[in-house]
Amino acid sequence: MSRIPVRLGARSYPILVTTSYRSLPGQLARLTASRDAWVISHASVLARHGRALLGPLQAAGWHVRTLSVPERETSKSLAMVGRIVGALSRTARMRVPVLVAFGGGVVGDLTGFVAAVYRRGVPYVQAPTTLLGQVDSAIGGKVGVDLPHAKNFVGAFYQPRLVVNNLAVLRSLPRRQRRSGLAEVIKYGAIADRALFAYLERHLSGCLALAPAAARRLVTRSCRIKAQVVSRDERETGEVRAQLNFGHTVGHALEAATAYRRWTHGEAIAIGMAVAADLSVAVGRCPAREAARLITLLEAAGLPTRARSVSRQAVRRAMAFDKKFIRGRPRWVLLQGIGRVTVTEAVPPAAAARALAGRIGRAT
Ligand SMILES: NC(=O)c1ccc[n+]([C@@H]2O[C@H](COP(=O)([O-])OP(=O)(O)OC[C@H]3O[C@@H](n4cnc5c(N)ncnc54)[C@H](O)[C@@H]3O)[C@@H](O)[C@H]2O)c1
Ligand SMILES: [Zn+2]
Repeated sequence: MSRIPVRLGARSYPILVTTSYRSLPGQLARLTASRDAWVISHASVLARHGRALLGPLQAAGWHVRTLSVPERETSKSLAMVGRIVGALSRTARMRVPVLVAFGGGVVGDLTGFVAAVYRRGVPYVQAPTTLLGQVDSAIGGKVGVDLPHAKNFVGAFYQPRLVVNNLAVLRSLPRRQRRSGLAEVIKYGAIADRALFAYLERHLSGCLALAPAAARRLVTRSCRIKAQVVSRDERETGEVRAQLNFGHTVGHALEAATAYRRWTHGEAIAIGMAVAADLSVAVGRCPAREAARLITLLEAAGLPTRARSVSRQAVRRAMAFDKKFIRGRPRWVLLQGIGRVTVTEAVPPAAAARALAGRIGRAT
């Protein structure tokens, strides 16, 4: 088991990379005197992996309740927050429960937000079951829900007490979800780690299969990068955490413009990274061969790099809701070369429009 620290003073917590949940009760005992847990998940995840998580907790004397939400992005809604806090409060009595997010990023973002607002904050644990959750969304405390027209528009920074990444549960992940998680790993390589990027290029099939050694390496390395970024710039006040938004300005807009149904988050940001890479070359920040390396890897991983059958106008409209807009201008994360990015508002709007048209909407 490896233990990766997220260093945030009194709010520090570890990310455990492991192959079972057996150590969870012991870890929790260090954090809380509570023995009441609410596991928020999906019915299918509970059916497949529920025993592995609940068994050790119950054996250690925990009283565990479960709550399932539908498997789709639209579960990340204020209406769902209302339903969950309603259910929690009806059994509340005098006890403060620990919430456990047991699913992908949808369950993680939703549960974290409920934990932030329920009784002005209760402790929660992230037990992500998707690759995307383990490498990215479970770490860093960005929690929240979507509005119909704007992704992640209501939320908070609220750190979990613990992240437990059990690699064994990833085995049941469908191929599309593996690819989607791999998009975020490719992002880490592109923004911060040439060696990780080269590993992905060399061992792509093992990475897609989540072969044990590859899965461990991808998860551990990605967690280290994210933990460092979050430790340095928890609230994205500087430019450090903003780098993680590489590909997300366009990616989030693609998701919102298609009612969150068309692409997974990873697919949408793959297209977004391709647009950002083109733009980086167009404005003279990045050698063309470095951008081409990124696009080649995304495509080899089976991720989309274009979105022709979507309205460019709708994507542009959705981009205006991006929280990364500063003083009315988008804040772009541009590639400088594999392993390095820069954050800037100084992008000529015409160049951005051309980069968008190059991959999104009908070809011009
Ligand atoms: N908070 C953050 O910092 C952050 C970062 C990145 C992404 N996100 C958010 O994360 C969400 C995407 O997360 P996601 O990609 O995990 O998608 P998801 O949560 O929708 O999960 C994808 C699917 O995988 C299924 N699944 C989960 N675990 C499984 C398993 N072990 N075996 C088989 N199937 C399993 C789920 O039931 C679901 O249908 C988006 O809402 C995105 O905005 C948040
Ligand atoms: Zn993302």
